[in-house]
This record gives sequence, structure tokens and C-alpha cells, in this order.
Amino acid sequence: MAERIEVLLTEQEVDKRIQEIGDQISRDYAGKQVHLVCVLKGGSFFMCELAKRITVPVSIDFMSVSSYGGDTKSSGVVRIVKDLDESLKDKHVLVIEDIVDSGRTLSYLLDMLQSRGPADVKLCTLLDKPDRRVVDVKVDYTGFEIPDEFVVGYGLDYDQKYRNLPYIGIVKFD
Ligand code: IMP
Ligand code: MG
Repeated sequence: MAERIEVLLTEQEVDKRIQEIGDQISRDYAGKQVHLVCVLKGGSFFMCELAKRITVPVSIDFMSVSSYGGDTKSSGVVRIVKDLDESLKDKHVLVIEDIVDSGRTLSYLLDMLQSRGPADVKLCTLLDKPDRRVVDVKVDYTGFEIPDEFVVGYGLDYDQKYRNLPYIGIVKFD
């Protein structure tokens, strides 16, 4: 089935909001080094853009998890596909995600990272779909709250496509 993409957030809107979050993070972490943990693959575009706008010292690491289940739904069973390269001991960890949907993936991930002895763990997501939440997760920085629609772009995919779109679009099947 062919799908079409309808613009939800333009490139300018996303860039402006990322600058604002970068400024906020720079203020909140003044005098500290922030360790960005990117959740692959979706979080990668957002993390790069955000990291460039943070003015306190930054280090980065990557992790990849997969949730078993269908293509547009996460099942809640999370498997680590690629673990972090570095220890989190005493670091100010900021997890960077593309989207919080049910919250299942993040809830599992945050508990696991917390058990590795960081100074603190916070969560920053580009998008949040609060209507879809099943598991409660505390989001410290949110780019945009969006309606319950399947979105792509800025790292988010549909069937591995559209991650490279420089804006956020809704996938329409009609
Ligand atoms: P959660 O565990 O349900 O919060 O969702 C985890 C993952 O599902 C996200 O990190 C995304 O990879 C994927 N996901 C959820 N909603 C969307 C969407 O609208 N578009 C693309 N991927 C999504
Ligand atoms: Mg993700």
C-alpha cells in the first residue's frame, strides 16, 4: 500500500525548538559535563542537532534496543542489541529519544541505566504522545507533544523509510 506524508512540524519549527531545549540543558547542567545516551536509530538525528547547541561539555554514547512485536506497535519486551561502550559511573546521563509512545521501552531502559551507578539519569525526547502512555515515565525535556498519529522524519521511520526527512510528518494510508 502506498502511503503519503503530511507535514506536522516543519524543519524551522523543529530547529527552533531544539535550540530552546539546548539552551535549557546548558543552563540546567551549568558547571557539569552531560553524557548523552542516544537510543538508536531514531534518536540519532535529534541527538546530533541537540548536542551542537549545548554549551557545557558533552560526551556521547549509543545504545540500540529492539522491542519485539509488530511494525507500528511496541510489545514491551525489550532486548539490548548494542550496549553502551562506556561506564555510566558518576556521570550526568541524559537519555536522548526520538519519541515516547507507550513508555514501555523507556521505562525498562531508564531502570537499567539507573542501576549502573550514574550521578543522575534524565530523559529528553523530541516527541511525546501522552495519549498513548501505558507505563508512567518522567520526561525531563520534551520537544513537542503530538496527537496519537504515526509520525516519521528526523530519525523516525516507517518500515525503515523516511528517517532522513528534515521535518516531522504524519503517515497517511489513503
Ligand atoms: P514505546 O516503548 O511504546 O514508548 O515506543 C518505543 C518506540 O516505538 C519509539 O522509540 C519508536 O522507535 C517507536 N515509535 C513509537 N511511535 C512511533 C511513531 O509514531 N513513529 C515511528 N516510530 C514510533
Ligand atoms: Mg526509539
